[in-house]
Amino acid sequence: SDPDYVTIVEVGPRDGLQNEETIVSADLKVELIEKLARAGLTHIEAGSFVSPKWVPQMEDTIEVINKMERLPGRHYPVLVPNMKGLDKLLETLARHPKSAPSPPPTDEIAIFSAASDVFSKANTNCTVAEGLARLEPVARKALDNNLQVRGYVSAVITCPYSGKVDPKKVKDVTKALLDMGCYEVSLGDTVGTGNPTSIYTMLDAVMGGAYAIPPSKLAAHFHDTFGSGVANILVALSMGIRTVDTAVAGLGGCPYSPGATGNVATEDVMYALRGSQYTYPGDLETIADIGAWISEKLEKENGSRAGKAIQAR
Ligand code: HMG
Ligand code: MG
Repeated sequence: SDPDYVTIVEVGPRDGLQNEETIVSADLKVELIEKLARAGLTHIEAGSFVSPKWVPQMEDTIEVINKMERLPGRHYPVLVPNMKGLDKLLETLARHPKSAPSPPPTDEIAIFSAASDVFSKANTNCTVAEGLARLEPVARKALDNNLQVRGYVSAVITCPYSGKVDPKKVKDVTKALLDMGCYEVSLGDTVGTGNPTSIYTMLDAVMGGAYAIPPSKLAAHFHDTFGSGVANILVALSMGIRTVDTAVAGLGGCPYSPGATGNVATEDVMYALRGSQYTYPGDLETIADIGAWISEKLEKENGSRAGKAIQAR
């Protein structure tokens, strides 16, 4: 296989739409996911099984994953914060007969922690240690049920409440998630304050020293608040990471990270990699069309610079 193939995890339908003030209909979410998959993307985060009291925007994820067309060989992970969320997912998966012609609603969950206790409290109402203890049996049960488990560490550069984060903490939490059986851990610059220097320093710490974590076990999940997202991804790629989380039209943000904007736009990353040694799935022009379409539906400015430029041609 191509050592410079970059897996793109499209997080717009989850990270993007979880942060919209107006609730987006399940049908529009389904349409967005289907368009992205038909444009060639292989990994599309479809929603989350979190508490609707915390994030009402994702309450209809069950409906979304059951309704959406699932293309074979694609992955549609959903976030799961606790056993209650996993049990709800397993219930809906149990209703999908093994003999059904279509693939099951999903084959993958993502569990999430943070490198900051204050952020963890704000996002999941528990400390990092409490959260990890809660997630361990969730990961085990998911694996026992043949689900792949991906991990997230939030606040890898800055905590929105307590400031600068120690890369050692990022490494410890990443290791804990890998030890639970996560096949990969995505490092979230939730606030989007990272720049090439701070991202390098953080990744260097995570990948070096005692219990060094290889880049094949890591993904880059960078919010683009300060406009350094693409540059930061190039740094991650130069250090061997080959999975990046992006959002069409730069949708996104975290309800518990005030002021943070969306993920680095899928279109911007694809454009930046054009003509390089890196290859990736999906067609840029088609995705730029989807970015323009969803921005119009949400009545917001398209957050992708490349997307806007392509549209203007
Ligand atoms: P809690 O309030 O401590 O939980 O929240 P609880 O067990 O006391 O439950 C409170 C209520 O929620 C109860 O309902 C539960 O039944 C219900 P009541 O009895 O009052 O009617 N509940 C649930 N309902 C449905 N599904 C569930 C579930 N769990 C409880 N799974 C909890 C703790 C973790 C549940 C909550 O804090 C939560 O849902 N947090 C999720 C917040 C979230 O979704 N944040 C955004 C995703 S993370 C992110 O964006 C960062 C990322 O992109 C990376 C990056 O950028 O850094 C991944
Ligand atoms: Mg995020």
